[in-house]
Amino acid sequence: MNTISQNNRVLSGMRPTGLLHLGHYHGVLKNWIELQHSYGCFFFVADWHALTTHYEDPSIIAESTRDMVIDWLAAGVNPGNATLFVQSRIPEHAELHTLLSMITPLGWLERVPSFKDQQDKIKDRDLATYGFLGYPLLQSADILMYKAAFVPVGEDQVAHVELTREVARRFNHFYGREPDFEAKAMAAIKKMGRKNAKLYEDARKRYQEQGDSQGLSIGRALLESQQNISLSDRDRLLGYLDGQGRIILPEPQSLLTVSSKMPGIDGQKMSKSYNNVIALREDPDSVAKKIRTMPTDPARIRRTDPGEPDKCPVWEFHQVYTSEDTKKMLAEGCRTAGIGCIDCKQYVVDAILEELKPIQQRVEEYLKDLSGVDSIINEGCEYARDVAQDTIEEVRKVMGLSGRW
Ligand code: TRP
Ligand code: SF4
Repeated sequence: MNTISQNNRVLSGMRPTGLLHLGHYHGVLKNWIELQHSYGCFFFVADWHALTTHYEDPSIIAESTRDMVIDWLAAGVNPGNATLFVQSRIPEHAELHTLLSMITPLGWLERVPSFKDQQDKIKDRDLATYGFLGYPLLQSADILMYKAAFVPVGEDQVAHVELTREVARRFNHFYGREPDFEAKAMAAIKKMGRKNAKLYEDARKRYQEQGDSQGLSIGRALLESQQNISLSDRDRLLGYLDGQGRIILPEPQSLLTVSSKMPGIDGQKMSKSYNNVIALREDPDSVAKKIRTMPTDPARIRRTDPGEPDKCPVWEFHQVYTSEDTKKMLAEGCRTAGIGCIDCKQYVVDAILEELKPIQQRVEEYLKDLSGVDSIINEGCEYARDVAQDTIEEVRKVMGLSGRW
């Protein structure tokens, strides 16, 4: 069941394990840049998550953290619209992780598909660690800390958001029941004014007594539109409506990013582990060289042999970069041996260089102003930490740790 969110926050993180490449740009960053206009976005460097797999040689983490933020900025992530921060600078994430670990059944973590998959796939590292098992729960802490409504992720991360929802539900179930919950809910209802109070009570009855889910939607919509009740009263009334306690940690939803079609220079998906990437900072000569040495349709041995675009890895790049008209012309040229592979590839080279040029120019500017970049990060961390402290206070309180005993 979905609880409506109390905000329109979006949160997502990226692990600092190397230079960003076109796969990140097309698969993640363009989406972030789009989202930052419509939501309150939090984007962060998941350096603790990077440590779960790179604990033996963490130098890559130190090297990549600031560069990654620079690449985000250069790609168009706007610190005026989005809060950019570094996970380890907000120690409250670690505290929330510990606290959530108390209520998380071991089986929930062992069942997350990436746990077994990655252990099977990554043979050169020992991932049978406590930290790696806890990876998705640390991610839950990241998400719940900001009470994010939406989490843009790729397919491989959906199970982590699902786990987050289960953990949130369990948390609210245990700790959302204040001793005077009913009395507080009643008082909150009164604050809505007579007419809205009646509408709310009717909606609640409809749902709770007749099981009519319309009652639930009407009640939620009503609460969403209330201006004159506090956030915590709204949480209470949301919980009272559907029979839970107060919703302290709202359940997030994943925003599935349509999987990027970005191919690598070998025709497989672009990924650092396949060693087939074009970095956002790749120098133009290197871009040209990488594309020019790409394999093509193996049937085109000589310039005079006709080819078939569907059997050519370069064609995948044309799908990303080339207009329909030009593609038509190139496909025909390929099938009739009217165009050579070098000319065909040049279209891709030009398109990539054009895309990278403004990004690289901005990277240069940021590299000349590292203290400016650090200020952006510091400000983001400060703002994120304020939000995190509010949440952790609330969590400590309901878990018996408020310092008043
Ligand atoms: N696990 C994510 C990845 O590998 C990174 C991440 C960490 C994240 N915490 C997050 C993503 C919270 C979204 C929300 O891509
Ligand atoms: Fe591939 Fe283009 Fe050569 Fe055809 S002409 S084989 S599509 S590179």
